[in-house]
Amino acid sequence: MHSFDPVNFRGQFAFFQHNPGWVYLDNAATMHKPNVVVDAMAMFYQRHNSNVHRGAHTLSQHATRAFEQARDDIAAFINASAREQIIFCSGATAALNQIAFGLMHTVLKAGDRVLITALEHHANIVPWQIHCSKYGVILDIVPLTADYKVDQQAFTELLALKPKVVSFSHISNVLGHIQPVTQMVSQAKAAGALTVIDGAQGIVHDKVDVQSLDPDFYVWSGHKLYGPTGIGVLYGKTAALELLTPLFGGGEMISEVNFSHSLFNILPFRLEAGTPDIAGAIGLAAACNWLQSINNEQMKSYKSMLLKQFFAGLNKIDGLDILSSPVHNAGIVALNVQGEHPADVAELLNQQTVAVRGGQHCAMPFFSLLGLAGAVRFSFAPYNTEADVATSLHALTQAVEILTA
Ligand SMILES: Cc1ncc(COP(=O)(O)O)c(C=O)c1O
Repeated sequence: MHSFDPVNFRGQFAFFQHNPGWVYLDNAATMHKPNVVVDAMAMFYQRHNSNVHRGAHTLSQHATRAFEQARDDIAAFINASAREQIIFCSGATAALNQIAFGLMHTVLKAGDRVLITALEHHANIVPWQIHCSKYGVILDIVPLTADYKVDQQAFTELLALKPKVVSFSHISNVLGHIQPVTQMVSQAKAAGALTVIDGAQGIVHDKVDVQSLDPDFYVWSGHKLYGPTGIGVLYGKTAALELLTPLFGGGEMISEVNFSHSLFNILPFRLEAGTPDIAGAIGLAAACNWLQSINNEQMKSYKSMLLKQFFAGLNKIDGLDILSSPVHNAGIVALNVQGEHPADVAELLNQQTVAVRGGQHCAMPFFSLLGLAGAVRFSFAPYNTEADVATSLHALTQAVEILTA
């Protein structure tokens, strides 16, 4: 394992050589891709491109081996107990839709309950809403505390209603707060529920060991973890995956088709209809293998140091409402300039080549609860620098001065 060297780390991203003037603090939306990922995908397309599983020819067999090796690598990355527990899909949104749809036909019947929290991304709200209303399933929402954490007391009380499924994010994409997921999973399991973790932000911050965390499902998007867009992972325990009705039918996911009925294939193929994103899977595995070669603890403490510096700088700027807490924070800070629209602040930062996101961050119900139009979100990654922190603080100071002049 290599020790984490911030300069060497950043040097592995061609993006920064092509965009030297930019301070990129929109990592919660998507991360940049290290050269190893881009190279792995280019290599596949240039040398090995073929469809998988179905070709009789040698090239197809090579492509199949590379694709299935990617599954093995990703299973190892999250310590899944079996390779068929890794279902490739287009991302966290696709995975959550597959789970919500897939359980309605098997586990969830009219009158049953599903529990989510008030801090969820739309991807962990809307799929449940669509299917719960259609099948008469009740969707309960865990409220938040005054400091925007999931209210654990209310969570315990709502578990007493015996939800069949409990689904929550590992880390809030708006605030960066790390949820007490280990405790929440064990409480939900004790209440008899299936557990779903939206790990879109969680997998980025720390190593995830699905056997020790022990949820039934853990989902994530490749592009937020140094991988390509268009690929993601639906991890499930084998028994939990067997409960899912496939959302998509087509090639690959069947073992026999005739006009009266079809027989489905075994896992993982049963949930992977059609030609998969072969290069995407190979790129994502390259990202996971590369990450595993770097000291994670050092990388995390470097990011915490940047976050600490950023919070210290924010405290010197008057007129801010900071929504995020520095405690148990994965490197995301949401804030507002008092009385100003977040889009205006984000645009003033953009004009100073600081890339952040301003808006509701796919969490409209959260902002409705707060009565806010949204927030400006600064999200950090280990390739950011102390100079990025200083530049963004300076740009924010300028924006406040312009807006409040
Ligand atoms: C917590 C969380 N869940 C789900 C998603 C959806 O991810 P994707 O758009 O890659 O499917 C995101 C993306 O921002 C997210 O942050």
